[in-house]
Amino acid sequence: MDSNNVNQDLESLKIRLLADLDTCDQGGGDGLEELKVRYLGKKGEIYGLMRGMGALPADQRPAFGQMVNTLRDLAEERFAVLESRAAEQAIAAKLSASTVDPTLPGTRSELGHLHPLTVVRDDTIDFFRGMGFELAEAPEVDHEWYNFEALNIPPEHPARDMHDTFYVDEGVVMRTHTSNVQVHYLLGHEPGPVRMLAPGCVYRVDNDASHAPMFQQVECLVIDENISFSHLKGVMLLWAEHVFGKGTKLRVRPSYFPFTEPSAEVDVSCSLCGGAGCRLCKHTGWIEVGGCGSVDPAVLTQVGWDPERWTGFAFGFGIDRIALLKYGIPNIGLLTRNEAGFLRQF
Ligand code: DAH
Repeated sequence: MDSNNVNQDLESLKIRLLADLDTCDQGGGDGLEELKVRYLGKKGEIYGLMRGMGALPADQRPAFGQMVNTLRDLAEERFAVLESRAAEQAIAAKLSASTVDPTLPGTRSELGHLHPLTVVRDDTIDFFRGMGFELAEAPEVDHEWYNFEALNIPPEHPARDMHDTFYVDEGVVMRTHTSNVQVHYLLGHEPGPVRMLAPGCVYRVDNDASHAPMFQQVECLVIDENISFSHLKGVMLLWAEHVFGKGTKLRVRPSYFPFTEPSAEVDVSCSLCGGAGCRLCKHTGWIEVGGCGSVDPAVLTQVGWDPERWTGFAFGFGIDRIALLKYGIPNIGLLTRNEAGFLRQF
């Protein structure tokens, strides 16, 4: 084999390769695999040229090798183009053969959302956390001592009649209020400053449009040296404005709770009529939201805190009640009935 022959082989191989690629391309990529093996395979024609190089004089080999490499690069590049085109065509063919129409609109899955009670509870937690309050909890089924006696409600006290209570066992009750958290919390901590918030479920034998046998309360307890009733009013006003909007007014009416002295009931100006009087506020301009007061020294004594040094305030309100007011819901039972039609409105 002389050098001319070898060079001609290379030239004619190149021409054949390009022609074959063209034919293959026009044929929609048919036979591409075999073509690639024929030219670029280990036993293919391009490597065959390399092997024939031995027939060349040594000084011509490097230049010839270079030409073969260039041809190999060209071949690889062209094959890659045809391969990717073939892959695209295969996908298109698959899609057009399938019975799925990707242009049809999909079936929407309905997005869920938070329950109105959860919204109000989380919002309350966020608000008080922002003021440095710590979350606390206590059992929902509790010994009656925590629910009553420790809160200055002795067995014969008429306040016990106010709560028509679910008794689980002798001396064991479904808690009637979240105030039991106060007792557990104070017993579990060394005397010192307290800022505590306790949301949770409570149970009473009650059932009408505005009372449910189970509902949620939030208990708030603050204790420090020199805490007064004005601190209580300040915190409650900030909270009322947060929930019902700026300009909301607060009214504190004297009341009675055995665990606070003095005790009060808290009203906020009606968010619907702004205080002018409407159906929601029964034409009084005010809506009752909870109870509050200065922590009774008897409670502090029960849990071993010195009432001479520590003073505090507490308040408790119903989360359900706030949700009713905030969303204008007419019946408290709707909140726990799990009716999709009702819940979808929020
Ligand atoms: N526990 C009371 C109730 O359920 C509400 C209450 C009143 C809580 C006064 C308090 C408070 O912390 O100081 O009716």
